[in-house]
Amino acid sequence: MKYLNYITAFLLFIITSCEHKNIAETPNRQGIIADKAMVVSAHPLASKVGLEVLKNGGNAVDAAVAVHFALAVVYPVAGNIGGGGFLVYRTNEGEYHTLDYREKAPAMAKRNMYLDSDGKVIDEKSRLGHYAAGVPGSVHGMVTAHQKFGSKNWGELLEPAINLARNGFKLTENGASNLNRAQERIEKYSTVKPENLLHNYWNARDSIQYKDLAETLTRIAKNGKAGFYEGETARLIVEEMKRGKGLISFDDLKGYESIWREPIQFSYKDYKITSMGPPSSGGVAIAQLFGMIEHFTIQDWGIDHINTIHVIAESEKRVFADRAEYLGDPDFVQIPIDKLMERKYNQLRASEINFEHASMADEIKAGNFGKEHEETTHFSIVDQYGNAVSSTTTLNGGFGNHVVVGGAGFFLNNEMDDFSALPGSPNMYGLIGGEANSIAPAKRMLSSMTPTIVEKNGQLFMVVGTPGGSTIITSVFQTILNVVEFNMNLQAAVDYPRFHHQWRPNYIQYEKGRFEDNMIEILNELGHELRERTAIGRVDAILVLKDGKMEGGADPRGDDTALGF
Ligand code: GLY
Repeated sequence: MKYLNYITAFLLFIITSCEHKNIAETPNRQGIIADKAMVVSAHPLASKVGLEVLKNGGNAVDAAVAVHFALAVVYPVAGNIGGGGFLVYRTNEGEYHTLDYREKAPAMAKRNMYLDSDGKVIDEKSRLGHYAAGVPGSVHGMVTAHQKFGSKNWGELLEPAINLARNGFKLTENGASNLNRAQERIEKYSTVKPENLLHNYWNARDSIQYKDLAETLTRIAKNGKAGFYEGETARLIVEEMKRGKGLISFDDLKGYESIWREPIQFSYKDYKITSMGPPSSGGVAIAQLFGMIEHFTIQDWGIDHINTIHVIAESEKRVFADRAEYLGDPDFVQIPIDKLMERKYNQLRASEINFEHASMADEIKAGNFGKEHEETTHFSIVDQYGNAVSSTTTLNGGFGNHVVVGGAGFFLNNEMDDFSALPGSPNMYGLIGGEANSIAPAKRMLSSMTPTIVEKNGQLFMVVGTPGGSTIITSVFQTILNVVEFNMNLQAAVDYPRFHHQWRPNYIQYEKGRFEDNMIEILNELGHELRERTAIGRVDAILVLKDGKMEGGADPRGDDTALGF
């Protein structure tokens, strides 16, 4: 029953929080084309900031830093300095570097911290308020990426974000409605009322300023990591924790480290795909999806053929069953990555797919080897030198735990909900987790973020990623398929309505327009339950065309904007 409540709340949130558009009506359109460089992000002002850096000779990492901090101001529902994320970088020589700046559980976290005395999960404790926050990784991640690959002055890269915060900017319609939806919670959970955010009703084009955030960003601009993890900002975070009974301490902040991880790499037909490894499940999951799908002739069947939809849904179920069993923080658990990605293993999983009938969730177990509230955000960048960044960052839910750090002006994450609070009990995305993703002090919670870069014949081909909680994995997968199997322009591939299966709950979620009525009947007859919902993901991507120019794919489901030159 509780499970149903979670799922209902999750779906209701999505239904009320996303604008409904019939994406299928969009023709096979092409995105904007650029000769040399491009940035695609969730907000026009952040894309503009990135474009300026690129035009001034900055490289993709410089632009990523500037875009990341700009999003923390103009897109606070997901852009952040109080959250974390992952960054995949490909140099123009084809070297890959993948950075994990995921949040960590505070040292005082305990395995059963979200359970009541009967061992049941306490509603909302891992999602709202101070107790839901993990130790933020974003600032450490940006400094680390910049120290290794940046070329422009650190402080100058933060200037546009500081100016936007200090001088203010005009809200978009989505920005206003995001804030309106969150007013009550922000007021309830912030111990120092953030007057700049609390308003009777926000309208599009209203001006908003973030003066405290401007000061925090100025400290980060001057002092780098220490501007956040030590000194005044750390003091403000720890005081906020004390007022709200949260767990993050000075030691947690000072001890936070982002980590360069081994990339996940695999090939699919003529393509080499590189994505993020654990503690994100994204890379392994898409490797498994492509590893299963390659045994079927989906190109011949076509994108809307029953067989294509069936094998995609059935593959997705199996991947999410494996995810629940095996994936977690690699610093804490042994993950059988090689086995999960093995060709033979995924061939075997694919061979389990029955064309006569959909599998029941209970029939699918993890293989044997012998709710976003989907307010994450992604940006894709290619610079004029040919370097590429694919980065996804999040507070987890929209506005994270809804706590604005008093005097510091930024939201904290509610990433602790990405742990499995109780094995078998769903989190806000309805995702089930197991022992591998149980809570432990200083452990990183499992993510679905899938910042990805695709090569064709050794050349940069595509930079792609999306927000969307558990649907991130399936949206990245389907967008790549739309281009490489179904020959769509990138923008059309991004526009095309998506569907998603995550094993449990055992139904296909789909966007309006994805399936004709008769297809829904056929899928029902096959044993698939389907539920229509609103937007799945907001994919921001770049495709390198045959003539060397680039196409930007900015998702029409949000304010996403591609800019290039
Ligand atoms: N917080 C969403 C994710 O990391 O998957």
